[in-house]
This record gives sequence, structure tokens and C-alpha cells, in this order.
Amino acid sequence: MAAGFFKAEMSMLSSTLARSYSIPFRKTPMSFDFRIAMRQNPFTRIRCSPVAAAFSSSPSHSPNFPIPGLEDVFVGYLFGRKKATEVAHVVWEKVIQKGDMVIDATCGNGNDTLAMLKMVMDDSVSGGYVYAMDIQKDAIQSTSSLLDLTLGSKEKDCVKLFNICHSKMEEIVPQNSRVRMVAFNLGYLPGGNKSIITVTDTTLLALKASERILMPGGLISLVVYIGHPGGREELEVVEAFGSSLPVSDWVCCKFQMLNRPLAPVLVFMFKRELK
Ligand SMILES: C[S@@+](CC[C@H](N)C(=O)[O-])C[C@H]1O[C@@H](n2cnc3c(N)ncnc32)[C@H](O)[C@@H]1O
Repeated sequence: MAAGFFKAEMSMLSSTLARSYSIPFRKTPMSFDFRIAMRQNPFTRIRCSPVAAAFSSSPSHSPNFPIPGLEDVFVGYLFGRKKATEVAHVVWEKVIQKGDMVIDATCGNGNDTLAMLKMVMDDSVSGGYVYAMDIQKDAIQSTSSLLDLTLGSKEKDCVKLFNICHSKMEEIVPQNSRVRMVAFNLGYLPGGNKSIITVTDTTLLALKASERILMPGGLISLVVYIGHPGGREELEVVEAFGSSLPVSDWVCCKFQMLNRPLAPVLVFMFKRELK
């Protein structure tokens, strides 16, 4: 086996193995089979989304994979050259539309918040908000400083920062908001106090709140770190939650390295468009 080669597992959290689709990638010397276990193609009812189109159109051996950015980042991830967070950002880009409202449930140092803001903001479209929260004051300060350094005041007005637990996100998001995405980057604040981490009870409450407020065609995105105490238990809770969502309304999957047992795990839960 070539040095640096690794296996990546993509498994659907809420379906059994019945059918597999091959998605070849251009610009690479080999083609990869993403064996997607599913009872039926789960993406057929997610409309208007390039991610959905990628999987619901001709499922096998399409010569033109229709999402170039996604293609590059997934191939980079397979070869160990792209990080889980980079994959997450590219998936967000395919789901988020200009003018959307999105939630950063763990804003930390603000990198994800900033990435989300660039995806929702556009001068030609009104709206476009990121509601960002963190349980630590230091994290809110760090995010605020990053935004001050990077943004003008008009853009910064589109980010609402809250020093609260994400289990309380429904208290700060205006009622009847159409929330396109809730993103979690679990674990501890890089460069901060490593004893303050996300924990299973409040993560689960926050996932349930996300399920309630997410609009059809929206996404719950998680990067789950399992190298610290409690990380694996948190992943189990996240997986159990995703597995419990009905296949008729949700598409839930995870990406996990098989031979890097401590590598972060990516979990995506897409809420299908209404029929
Ligand atoms: C891995 S860091 C997030 C990194 C961040 N997204 C970024 O781009 O820099 C995880 C963050 O979750 C925060 N956190 C822990 N428990 C939380 C909770 N119950 N509610 C909200 N944030 C929480 C931590 O304080 C920490 O800043």
C-alpha cells in the first residue's frame, strides 16, 4: 500500500445497505467508489441544491461530476491533503444561498463564522445573517476581534454574537426564522482552556433544537473530535441522533478515517425539501 494511502468510510446513518453508486472524479489518475448505502436514492427530493443534483442525477459513471469545488476537496480529503473543516466548508457552500440565516453553534475563534458570513452576504440581496454563539466569553471576544480585523461595520452587523449555550439557540433566533444551516465544531477552543468542551447532554439538546428550527433544504453540519476524553461518547450521541431521523425527511451521513482513529469525524444531516 502506498505511503499516505488511507481508507475513508462514508456511511449513511439512517439506512441499510441495498444499493451502491459510483461517483468518478475527473482530474485524478484513479476513480474512487463512494459506496453509498441506501434503500433508495435519498437525494431525489432535495431540490435546487447542487449537492442533491450531484447525487440524484445519473448515479453511476457520470463523466462530468457537477460540483468542481466539492470534487477537489473530497479528493484532497481522500489523500490526506484536506482537513475535515475544509470539506465541511465546501459542503456548506453548496447548501447556503445568499441572504440565508445560518447558525454557528460553536463560534470559538470565529473562523467558521467568517466563512459562513461570506456565504450568506451579498450586496444585491437583503438579509444574510450569522447567529454565532459560544459558552465562553473568551471565544466571543476572539470571534469579535477576528471580525473587527476582517470586516467593515456593515458586514459585521450581519453577525450576531451570543455568549450562551447552544442548547438555548431557540431563545436568540427570531421566531419563524428560516434557518438554512446549524454548524457545530465540537470539542474545545483551540489555544484556549481545554477543560471547557462540548458535552453530550447539551450537544443533544442543541441537535434537537436545530432539528426544530431548520428549514427544509437545510443542513446540520458537525465536525466531531474524538481524541479527547468524552469525544467518542459525544460522537455516539451524534450518530444515534442522526440515525433516529426519519429517512423520509432527512439524509444523514458521516465520514470517518479508518486508520486514523483520532481523526475528526464529519457528520452531515440534510433536511429534505418539501414535496
Ligand atoms: C472546536 S471549538 C470551535 C472552533 C470554531 N468554530 C472556530 O472556527 O474557531 C469548540 C467551541 O465550542 C465551545 N462550546 C463548548 N460548549 C459549548 C456549548 N454548550 N455551547 C456553545 N459553545 C460551546 C467552546 O467554548 C469552543 O470555543
